[in-house]
Amino acid sequence: MKWTAEKIKNLKGSDKWAMLTAYDAITAEWVDENKIPAILVGDSLAMTTLGYDNTLPVKMSEMLHHTSAVSRVVKNSLIISDMPFMSYQSSISHGLENAGKFIKDSAADAVKIEGGIIRFNLIESLVTNGIPVLSHIGLTPQSIKQLGGYKIQGNNDKEYQKILDDAVAVEQAGSFAVVLECVPEELAKKITNTLSIPTIGIGAGVHCDAQILVISDLLGLTSKSIPSFAKSYVNLYSTISESIQEFKKDVKNNVFPADKNSF
Ligand code: KIV
Repeated sequence: MKWTAEKIKNLKGSDKWAMLTAYDAITAEWVDENKIPAILVGDSLAMTTLGYDNTLPVKMSEMLHHTSAVSRVVKNSLIISDMPFMSYQSSISHGLENAGKFIKDSAADAVKIEGGIIRFNLIESLVTNGIPVLSHIGLTPQSIKQLGGYKIQGNNDKEYQKILDDAVAVEQAGSFAVVLECVPEELAKKITNTLSIPTIGIGAGVHCDAQILVISDLLGLTSKSIPSFAKSYVNLYSTISESIQEFKKDVKNNVFPADKNSF
């Protein structure tokens, strides 16, 4: 069954569900085959795959290229593309045009945009024009220069109320779900109980309707440390290093290629 934004929205109130990022045909196949309802081609692509220090430099062309790789292999999961920094902030028409590219050129099913009340008109326009929107509030990594770093949001009364208002606004504007990043568990619970669309948490505690992880964190793919709110279920970095060392040894010792690997 191919997931749609409407079906994801209707998961509100059902069992909790898991969501993952994917950035290419290999990672997307793993996620899709394991029946994850929605895949995010996150702008975390910048750091996980493209070697940038944060999400700000990643370009539309890079996001489109990787979304296309994902959509070539995915059969069931909803494919959501993250709109990169400055691809939607300057005007509604610019945002519409770029969102349209993800749907038309890269076969995405939906887009994700960061921001709450400030994105109300853009979300409404996208949805009215047939483009489903996943919103992202709380810690919005495209604003780290303004926020002063990757830190918890909503820890004082003013921020708490602002994030709650953002959540209500994105639902009213027509988002089918909302990502809550790095907010106190109690605030995430309040938002989850207030909204009739699913909340997808990352660093937002256990009460959200769903949880998302960056796939390279889940798989322990790099030597870098992961955020405290993430979890590695396996350390593939070590396994991969061991395999490379074994290959090097086999070549040096004339063990590879063996007769069965030769013509
Ligand atoms: O880009 C990304 O991977 C994200 C998730 C962490 C929600 O925005």
